Amino acid sequence: MQTVGRMKFGRGQCKAGQKATRSIHIPRVSSTRIVKIASAATAVQVTAREQIKSFEQYKELYEWSIRDPAGFWADFASQFHWEKKWAEDHFDYNFDVRKGPVFVNFFKGGVTNICYNALDRHVAEGHGATPCLLFEGNDPDRQKALTYAETLEEVCKLANWLKAKGVKKGDTVAIYMPMILELPIAMLACARIGAVHSVVFGGFSADSLAGRMEDAKSRVLLTCSGVMRATKSIKLKSIADKAVSLCAEQGFNVDTVLVYENDNAIAAADTPFTPGRDHWWQSEVASMPSTCPVEWVDSEHPLFLLYTSGSTGKPKGVLHTTGGYMIYSAATSKHVFGLQRGDVYWCTADCGWITGHSYLAYGPMLNGVTNIVFEGVPTHPTPARCWEVVEKYKVKQFYTAPTALRSLMRSGDEWVKACDRSSLKVLGSVGEPINPEAWRWYHEVVGDSRCPIMDTWWQTETGGHMITPLPGLWQEKPGSATLPFFGVVPAVLDEKGNELEGEAEGVLALKQPWPSTLRTVYNDHKRYEENYFGPFPGYYFSGDGCRRDADGYYWITGRVDDVINVSGHRIGTAEVESALVAHPSCAEAAVVGYDHPIKGQGIYAYVTLMEGVGHDGVGDDALKKQLVAGVRETIGAFAAPDVIHWAPGLPKTRSGKIMRRVLRKIASKEEEQLGDISTLADPSVVASLVNLRGK
Ligand code: WTA
Repeated sequence: MQTVGRMKFGRGQCKAGQKATRSIHIPRVSSTRIVKIASAATAVQVTAREQIKSFEQYKELYEWSIRDPAGFWADFASQFHWEKKWAEDHFDYNFDVRKGPVFVNFFKGGVTNICYNALDRHVAEGHGATPCLLFEGNDPDRQKALTYAETLEEVCKLANWLKAKGVKKGDTVAIYMPMILELPIAMLACARIGAVHSVVFGGFSADSLAGRMEDAKSRVLLTCSGVMRATKSIKLKSIADKAVSLCAEQGFNVDTVLVYENDNAIAAADTPFTPGRDHWWQSEVASMPSTCPVEWVDSEHPLFLLYTSGSTGKPKGVLHTTGGYMIYSAATSKHVFGLQRGDVYWCTADCGWITGHSYLAYGPMLNGVTNIVFEGVPTHPTPARCWEVVEKYKVKQFYTAPTALRSLMRSGDEWVKACDRSSLKVLGSVGEPINPEAWRWYHEVVGDSRCPIMDTWWQTETGGHMITPLPGLWQEKPGSATLPFFGVVPAVLDEKGNELEGEAEGVLALKQPWPSTLRTVYNDHKRYEENYFGPFPGYYFSGDGCRRDADGYYWITGRVDDVINVSGHRIGTAEVESALVAHPSCAEAAVVGYDHPIKGQGIYAYVTLMEGVGHDGVGDDALKKQLVAGVRETIGAFAAPDVIHWAPGLPKTRSGKIMRRVLRKIASKEEEQLGDISTLADPSVVASLVNLRGK
């Protein structure tokens, strides 16, 4: 096994596209010392453990983080509790498939626990009375608050319950819950006992939940009776029951289900319950002891699995491990949002996605801030909801997705202006490219032109922010994620894998690991290597296109693979296609994304019907509805196609490959710009598809 040593990286690669930084010598240091770096005139003390005050300091730190990742991250990690310290050579990796298996280790030899660092550490330091979690219900009159000490007690009770049910270190536990306090509590309880959580977003269908439980072999499921989203109630437990039955049909038994009664949505009396297998959260967990010893784990011990869509096949179980993820989520939260203990911070993401993992459950709590957990939707009961919550709790940092901003922007400025937003200091955006119009509205209307906008580019796989501004340290540009965070070395590649210098457009890759690099795809290391490290040997391939401008700023242009980003949710076209083809009337389906004014991208599905169905390959509206319902059932409502386009024939090459480029152009009514279609087996297909648009 070949290890690529950390010292292989020269300083020239530190910030691609910008002028080489001036030649400064950065000494290798022990992990606990503050580095003194000779800056222009005065000696400044720079460590990422402190707040960063200038672009100069960022540059010094960035250089250090690239030249000596082991020392840089060890310095940051030294402020956390480690039951046993990491080894001197704690960082090693191989990113090059040609040299052997891909692997990444950070803080090797170190032993810690992320739950201890997120909760016990603050309590031990005298901050037990600081509010930790604030619950804001779908109904504005429902709220709840837990201090750090109280959250710790709740976590311990659940951890004890899990242990009593036989959950051990390394077991995977599935969590299918809405945004109530018990969701982050469940994640922390798993982490406390070294169990691996696998959170499944509450919008996923029974099929999707079953597939994830089966893949991860999760015998224990934590769920909830139901949830209210605006005026709609969703019976989560009924969906969970169906998922458990689907698993049983496949020969996999989920033997323990814990159900939280969310009685404002669905009461216990209306919730299906299987005695023996099912247990009520409120009656069983409450009586558990409120202290629970921490299970100390190795830095590389698995922390969680989170399934995400790729361009082919089933969703992949992205695996993150303990130490590196802890340090990176803490560092990015601290610097990107400027977090200080006691700040009231609000991330609107659901814990079912990576943003809710890194920037709700873990990163902010590692920094000791007060976190809002919001059950509802931004437009209920009115489009003022977000700003009312900001005013009510005096939110300092607010983090949301462009899709929410676009929909709120449409409702008019008066909803925003009616609320006091003077507490806001930093605004964040995540999940998809933010269009300059939404950026400006966020900046000028929401932030009264005084709050910097952190447009954070990252992925489930990266675990934390990769390219992002830092508040006040450099000028943002609307629509650009700007510059890399510490330890991140982006590269813009052409399609052959050549690295482009300076101003350039191509695909975005990353050249060396950062602490929260995904470590594998669960049970499929080969897929991990092929997917992320295969396309461009020596690099992690992101799947995104990007442009680097003359100032070295990065502009993400969207996915270059067959992944669609709908309202910030990643959906693989292949998954939607196989859900459509499952319908008995559907012979073939091809799915592409198209520009959507609110969702960013919408789902556009071409459907070829079975012989004898419809007229000349054209079905009716009832069949369209059935096809859409089938996708909701198989994946979840958020993956429902926006458009079904009847396609008696699909544009294929002579070898039978569907030309999606052609389908994208027809979907966006740009068929005049099709370019060369001479490789199509039957070019007349194009005209017939154009004729069927809107039918
Ligand atoms: C997209 C979400 C542009 C991108 C954290 C990426 C973005 C995918 C941004 C990951 C951004 C995320 N600007 N595009 N600021 N943030 N993306 O895994 O295409 O759900 O590859 O992680 O979202 O989606 P995921």
